[in-house]
Amino acid sequence: MSGTEATRDALGERISYAQSWEDPRVLQAGLQVGSDDRVLSVCAAGDNSFALAIAGAESVTAIDLSAPQIALAKLKLAAAVALDVERFRSFLGVGPIGQRVFLYHEIRPSLDEDVRAYWDANEEWIRLGVIGCGRFEQYLATFRTRLLPLVHRKSTIEQFLSCQTVDEQRRFYDAHWNTWRWRSLFRLFFSRTVMQRSGRSAAQFAHVDGPVSAAFLKRVEHGMCALPIATNPFLQWMLAGKYTDPENSQPYLSEQGHSALVDAADRIRFVHSDLMTHLQASTAGTYTAFNYSDVPEYLSEAETQSLLAATADASQSGGRIAYWNLLVPRHRPDALADRLTRNEALGTRLLATDRAFVYGGFQVETVQ
Ligand SMILES: C[S@@+](CC[C@H](N)C(=O)[O-])C[C@H]1O[C@@H](n2cnc3c(N)ncnc32)[C@H](O)[C@@H]1O
Repeated sequence: MSGTEATRDALGERISYAQSWEDPRVLQAGLQVGSDDRVLSVCAAGDNSFALAIAGAESVTAIDLSAPQIALAKLKLAAAVALDVERFRSFLGVGPIGQRVFLYHEIRPSLDEDVRAYWDANEEWIRLGVIGCGRFEQYLATFRTRLLPLVHRKSTIEQFLSCQTVDEQRRFYDAHWNTWRWRSLFRLFFSRTVMQRSGRSAAQFAHVDGPVSAAFLKRVEHGMCALPIATNPFLQWMLAGKYTDPENSQPYLSEQGHSALVDAADRIRFVHSDLMTHLQASTAGTYTAFNYSDVPEYLSEAETQSLLAATADASQSGGRIAYWNLLVPRHRPDALADRLTRNEALGTRLLATDRAFVYGGFQVETVQ
């Protein structure tokens, strides 16, 4: 079975990610999207495709092999258009439960029929707030509500979240956070076995070698000690299940971002397909920038090479490609050196600033 078929079997029929767990600032710094860009972007929860549209792209094609992921992103976009920023945030699940089902019925008439049918059947998630409905967000919620309280008191978590500088964070981490109990329970909960059962599927580990929890622990330590927690929505959500400051969380949730998204709504289109099929059907020069999330991770080396070659075929000269590596080190192979330039130093520099901090690599490549 190919990597794409395995991914479709594992992820195709569900919402795995209700939020993006990839830093939009890193993505934009890698792709430098502007008003001349036609972007092909893995849809997932929609957030990073929205971020690239907000950055001013001429067009964004948000693609996913999962219809429920597309139904989620379409719901978010329709909500942005129908609601002011306060009601938009509240509808999605930022802040206390408000009148989400009532708001849904305001948005509902503007949804495509299949999207409406999907959310009619999942109205409970509308009530709870859709940005918590992914399998991964539910896994994090279990971590936050069942495991974290066994390790740290609520007051310790609140104190950590209120640190104002990275020096303060480092001191707090060493003195109060990094206990034997934290390390042990973290290793257990973020082990391959537990993650495979509840957070990620076996297909997402198909190309992963070696233990995973030790690698994650090191990356989490970097995220907790080297990057300001006050401006890190990813860490805030992981530890508290909310954003300290929605205005500085995801671009589409800020007041300015929301209004830019509404303006850009007509420039975003959705495609339900896998990347390879779509690229093969696209003519040369169709796109100028590509956000591939961490899709190459789910593919073999040979499949990654074919995906990158098809990307170069569909790209305008000078097109940029960006993607993350979580646990599998994928990047442009030497065989494609005459078609793609690897900007390794830029990727490494940006990875060190990545507020989503769980990744082991960030790749930026340019079509020659
Ligand atoms: C790659 S996952 C993001 C994973 C996330 N960064 C993580 O590892 O925790 C993002 C989205 O990519 C979609 N996806 C995976 N492989 C794909 C492919 N070959 N073509 C199109 N979409 C794909 C999935 O359905 C999912 O919604």
